[in-house]
Amino acid sequence: MSATNCNVRVLRQSAPAPDIRRLTVALPRDAQMPHAGQFYMLRAWAANESPVLSRPISVHDMDPEEGSLTFLYQIKGEGTQKLAALAWGDTLTITGPCGNGFDVAAAAKAGKVAVVGGGIGTAPLLLLCKQLADAGCKPDLMVGFRDKTYGLDEFVPFCGKIDVATDTGALGHHGLVTDLLDPTAYDLVLTCGPGVMMRGVAKLCFAAHTPCLASLENKMACGLGACLGCTCHTKVGPKTVCKDGPVFPAEEVFEL
Ligand code: FES
Repeated sequence: MSATNCNVRVLRQSAPAPDIRRLTVALPRDAQMPHAGQFYMLRAWAANESPVLSRPISVHDMDPEEGSLTFLYQIKGEGTQKLAALAWGDTLTITGPCGNGFDVAAAAKAGKVAVVGGGIGTAPLLLLCKQLADAGCKPDLMVGFRDKTYGLDEFVPFCGKIDVATDTGALGHHGLVTDLLDPTAYDLVLTCGPGVMMRGVAKLCFAAHTPCLASLENKMACGLGACLGCTCHTKVGPKTVCKDGPVFPAEEVFEL
């Protein structure tokens, strides 16, 4: 199904960490619901206002009963600063759901699943863990943060074990999240986070012959596969991260 534009109303916005925001919006009743790993282009300013481009933000959570979608994002520039200024009752435009997301039904049938995330790359992993758990496959979660964690309580009902690594050693393992992953213990690894981290995860999985799917981030303009601005080079030729991805088999997109 194709992405559509919706004007939506803000239900709430909170700050789980100083530079992180959790934004929940009400979806129109007839809107298509996303699946894990898909994203929306968000815009809370007029077409002639700066920044020119809308902001691609992955779906963190959704509540079909409330009819809401939640986005978790980091404040990084002008666009996300404008999103962070939104409050209850304000409106914004969202375009989506975009991208292919994770094939949750296939992943749930794979066997034992590990989900590995880093920093704001954990944003799409809540809905992923939730949908996997709903499909009868509670994954183990391994997450890395620089210093402080955010939002992990929400994962607890949907995961097996949850292991944390921090760069500073403030919480959990002092070191890399890849130190926590033994891919030989899993039938499938799903990952989202910084490129260096995902490449490390992909390398471990490749060596252990464990399939790995990675959700990539890239600068995006249209979010719909039209401008080719997010093209990445893969082993099977150029692909758009927004439309062909953002989820790819890791061995297609990383040098291993
Ligand atoms: Fe335009 Fe991906 S952002 S093709």
